[in-house]
Amino acid sequence: MTTAKRKLDHIRICLEKEVEGGWRPFDDLSLVHRALPGIDADDIDTSCRFLGKDLAFPFMISGMTGGHPDTKEINVNLALAAQEVGVAMGVGSQRAALERAEVEETFSAVREAAPMIPIVGNIGAVQLRRGGAEVIDRLAEMIDADAIAVHLNFLQESVQPEGETEAEGAIEAIRSASDLRVPIIAKETGAGISGEDARALLEAGVEIIDVGGLGGTSWSGVEAYRAEERGDLKSAKMGRVFWNWGVPTPVSVVECAFSGAQVISSGGVRSGIDVAKSIALGAMMAGAALPFLAPATEGSSEVVEALRVYRRAFLTAMFLTASKDVSDLRSAPIVVLGRTREILEQRGFSAKKFAVHREMSR
Ligand SMILES: Cc1cc2nc3c(=O)[nH]c(=O)nc-3n(C[C@H](O)[C@H](O)[C@H](O)COP(=O)(O)O)c2cc1C
Repeated sequence: MTTAKRKLDHIRICLEKEVEGGWRPFDDLSLVHRALPGIDADDIDTSCRFLGKDLAFPFMISGMTGGHPDTKEINVNLALAAQEVGVAMGVGSQRAALERAEVEETFSAVREAAPMIPIVGNIGAVQLRRGGAEVIDRLAEMIDADAIAVHLNFLQESVQPEGETEAEGAIEAIRSASDLRVPIIAKETGAGISGEDARALLEAGVEIIDVGGLGGTSWSGVEAYRAEERGDLKSAKMGRVFWNWGVPTPVSVVECAFSGAQVISSGGVRSGIDVAKSIALGAMMAGAALPFLAPATEGSSEVVEALRVYRRAFLTAMFLTASKDVSDLRSAPIVVLGRTREILEQRGFSAKKFAVHREMSR
């Protein structure tokens, strides 16, 4: 099966099936409401900077697609909307364009549609190891990228019969690419990044981690559906067994931020409130993929609308936590309950510390 065909299957399954997990870790969190915010909502500044560019609020559309002619329109609709609202955008894995130059334009069209925003390229750690660090420059040039995300998706690869599970040497490959012209972002795709791995990545020269944690799209789940469609019941079973495997997004945010990384919170970020919760836990920004896929198949104005709903809820959460700018939100009290709290405490973090106003970011 070609990379491009597999990508189309993924999009179709994500549009048609229930691909999320049964548990929403973000529901374990609540920001402490302020009945007397003491500021005017109109004076709130939601803006931030990312990769040297201004954003309307700390948010990105996470990388999804490109690589098949049919995916160009989705990417262009996402890009037009990201440009209009002022958020960053990632593209899906550019591997297909390394294999077939004629699909490059499904990626380069993103930069044409969105000349001003930060755009993040994408490649798997296994392909980086095979292609060497020069691959990063090629991918960056293709879309005039501000950074390249190197994705770590060994869970998904493990449940695919054709999966590539050669993880040895991945960290060396990342290290060799970490001092190039464009920064590298280490990114999971739904199973999260632990503090142990964050420290290894930082030591290899990576400064930004996109946690891609558990709680949103399950790639093990997507692969289970794909396997069922082909009648491969063994792989389908594997996909279902590992559906909820991984580090929950809020836990991964805390672990990676505590290790010293600049963190993008993603995996199950389903509203502007989840974006605000992410910032209060220590992320510099948040991202989401699945919620923008269906709107992007309709048109750019549908994506704009979805982004504006996120921004409005983010601003309202800032108002109701008395945060007049994003740096205030970083110290807003946030209560952590349930399974998320238990995991954090087992991992050596006191949830109580987040429940009180903190003078400075961690
Ligand atoms: C249709 C689709 C395709 C994706 N393709 C890629 C990809 O090529 N590379 C990548 O790093 N992540 C990919 N992702 C993962 C997302 O970037 C994100 O990490 C993950 O879906 C969790 O976010 P979510 O819960 O908001 O969807 C894809 C996600 C979706 C929904």
